Amino acid sequence: MMVPNMHLLVIEAPEIASKVKAGQFVIVRANDEGERIPLSIAEWDREQGTITTIFMEVGASTGTLACLEKGDTVATCVGPLGNATEIAHYGTVICIGGCYGIGSIYPVARELKAAGNRVITVLEARSSYLIYWAKKFVPLSEKIFNITRDGSLGMKGHINRLTEIIHSLPKPPDRIIVNGCTYLMAHTSEATRDLGITTVVNLNPIMIDGTGMCGVCRVTVGGQMKFACVDGPEFNGHEVDWKEFLSRRKAYMSEETLFSRRSEPKTETHKEGKCQA
Ligand SMILES: Cc1cc2nc3c(=O)[nH]c(=O)nc-3n(C[C@H](O)[C@H](O)[C@H](O)COP(=O)(O)OP(=O)(O)OC[C@H]3O[C@@H](n4cnc5c(N)ncnc54)[C@H](O)[C@@H]3O)c2cc1C
Ligand code: FES
Repeated sequence: MMVPNMHLLVIEAPEIASKVKAGQFVIVRANDEGERIPLSIAEWDREQGTITTIFMEVGASTGTLACLEKGDTVATCVGPLGNATEIAHYGTVICIGGCYGIGSIYPVARELKAAGNRVITVLEARSSYLIYWAKKFVPLSEKIFNITRDGSLGMKGHINRLTEIIHSLPKPPDRIIVNGCTYLMAHTSEATRDLGITTVVNLNPIMIDGTGMCGVCRVTVGGQMKFACVDGPEFNGHEVDWKEFLSRRKAYMSEETLFSRRSEPKTETHKEGKCQA
């Protein structure tokens, strides 16, 4: 566990590690009976043949994943999936990460910096103890802003403080890229709409196959139907139908809650508490 409820998962997957680009994801199953869990790739090592994901324990499947121990094997890991982040020389780019998105925005910030951009990083969390990898952003970022709900680090509040950050810069950023929970992405997009700053979000709808076949990840962007797994997961945040997106994400909420209560841990490695075999 990195910080409460947030886990680091390093998977030996040489083929994925050899091809992955910033912004892509994998679909993992913790065990043979497990659900397919889409996870963004936060780091990779092409020489070692490993990929790293950071996941938040929110329900039954991520709970099972959290019970795995070093050396265990996941049943399947498919990827890299989705389109890579468009990296170009934009000028100044604000990279915003919250929750698991602090991890997944990291390779994006790194690639943007390598392409000659001036990177400004914004890390958002409920409290200072939930912010991780902060040091990794230091060499990449011209400036780092922290926003915490309780004010324990940086600015107090939530992403509504973004407008102040933008106004504190010598000139408006040329692009904003935001990764993390739906609330963070939707509110960032809302805040930047009137400012006319291109805002890219990394959508996280419910997914099954991740290859454009099942249609579960359907989202409406710019009035058109898109499949997040093959057309995204990155989209222009100003064009996303957030109301529909939120309601589709909640579609299986009661089943998920029921399953989460009923489910027994299934891996051999569950040792104690909820992980007991
Ligand atoms: C492209 C993409 C990248 C993602 N990257 C990460 C990541 O790096 N780290 C991370 O912690 N989470 C990530 N997610 C979300 C993660 O997949 C879900 O939190 C996880 O599947 C929840 O499973 P669960 O059974 O533990 O929770 P559940 O009890 O099933 O659900 C808890 C919440 O997760 C949502 N959810 C459930 N199943 C899925 C699914 N198959 N796909 C998407 N959302 C789902 C539900 O709507 C609900 O809000 C990503 C999702 C997508 C689509
Ligand atoms: S997850 Fe099935 S179409 Fe995208």
